[in-house]
Amino acid sequence: LVQRVLMTWCISKINNSLLNVVIIFSLSFFLAVWGNFINMSHNFLNLNRSIQDNGDQKVESKIEEAVAPLREKIRDLEKSFTQKYPPVKFLSEKDRKRILITGGAGFVGSHLTDKLMMDGHEVTVVDNFFTGRKRNVEHWIGHENFELINHDVVEPLYIEVDQIYHLASPASPPNYMYNPIKTLKTNTIGTLNMLGLAKRVGARLLLASTSEVYGDPEVHPQNEDYWGHVNPIGPRACYDEGKRVAETMCYAYMKQEGVEVRVARIFNTFGPRMHMNDGRVVSNFILQALQGEPLTVYGPGTQTRAFQYVSDLVNGLVALMNSNVSSPVNLGNPEEHTILEFAQLIKKLVGSGSEIQFLSEAQDDPQKRKPDITKAKLLLGWEPVVPLEEGLNKAIHYFRKELEYQANNQYIPKPKPARIKKGRTRHN
Ligand SMILES: NC(=O)c1ccc[n+]([C@@H]2O[C@H](COP(=O)([O-])OP(=O)(O)OC[C@H]3O[C@@H](n4cnc5c(N)ncnc54)[C@H](O)[C@@H]3O)[C@@H](O)[C@H]2O)c1
Repeated sequence: LVQRVLMTWCISKINNSLLNVVIIFSLSFFLAVWGNFINMSHNFLNLNRSIQDNGDQKVESKIEEAVAPLREKIRDLEKSFTQKYPPVKFLSEKDRKRILITGGAGFVGSHLTDKLMMDGHEVTVVDNFFTGRKRNVEHWIGHENFELINHDVVEPLYIEVDQIYHLASPASPPNYMYNPIKTLKTNTIGTLNMLGLAKRVGARLLLASTSEVYGDPEVHPQNEDYWGHVNPIGPRACYDEGKRVAETMCYAYMKQEGVEVRVARIFNTFGPRMHMNDGRVVSNFILQALQGEPLTVYGPGTQTRAFQYVSDLVNGLVALMNSNVSSPVNLGNPEEHTILEFAQLIKKLVGSGSEIQFLSEAQDDPQKRKPDITKAKLLLGWEPVVPLEEGLNKAIHYFRKELEYQANNQYIPKPKPARIKKGRTRHN
């Protein structure tokens, strides 16, 4: 606009002289240069703006890159704060009990923990993690009604409780034979300590005894009046005699100190969270079938066993604890099968092509084991309800998952990728 006004003004003022021509030319030249300068500075400003925009975008994307992992961490933290627990009943102060479960991180103990927690009680699990593991009760960690204490029952324990389920003891032959002296200490000194605690705080104690107190029985099926047939110096004696003396201690405390005791003689139990390599027949067969290995039967396979599913046992333990039955009670499933039948059934349920292999008989392996549960039925109104195949399918599912975890190392935290700083070499 300025250029045009000036030109018009000049033309109107100028005569046809040479000087005028020079002036006009100079003016036009000056104005042209001025115009170009203005254009160039516009272009320069635009260029500058676009470079700045690009730079801003790059900075933004860098910030986003740095912030994204932080956002993810915050999400994880939020998730951990809002951890979901299995549903828990609300119990009034009057009905809610403070319950101690020794060996509560083990196979049976963890299922008992689940039941008592879901019933609304306050549960303290004490375990030295010899055969138990934190994963069995990890779904309760952090819950206001739950506490996990790493403690060996061979040492005294001072807490305030209303009921004690005393389960701490290795239960499978390879585990209890691993350190027979420790097994004896756990079952004797450990039981004395728990009875001492029960006496001090006025708690009721339930002892998880075993059908092994009947040894290699001469009567069949075994009822609670049978005194047993145990070899006191055999390889199983540390466990069998340990449990027998634990029972003796319970009744000594009951008679002498007035402690309320309950004694459950538990027969073979199976289910999820049982030990994969504990050498017991159900876990052996399931693992072998899943891995396509031969199912190993010791002896001719005609020896019998009766297996109960773990939820049946847990219901029996709770019923016994809350009953007024202070004499020993058998808890087991009387449905008897030969070992060979078990092998065939598990093979079928797994859908395995494994063969059945017969090996020489194990020492002191009882030939027959079947509970007489008349007393439990009569006095507790309890009997097993889970069909064998249903229970076995659950155990097979659990073992299959465990094998998958092992194969994928799922429970081993993956190492985080190292953050390498530019221009620096790392020395590991
Ligand atoms: N599972 C069965 O078939 C069966 C049969 C008969 C009796 N029982 C009895 O039931 C109870 C539980 O058996 P399970 O099959 O769950 O066995 P398990 O080995 O899975 O559980 C035993 C628990 O006790 C803990 N423990 C062992 N010694 C301890 C100590 N000194 N101090 C603290 N904790 C200790 C272990 O770490 C483990 O968590 C045992 O007393 C066992 O004798 C089980």
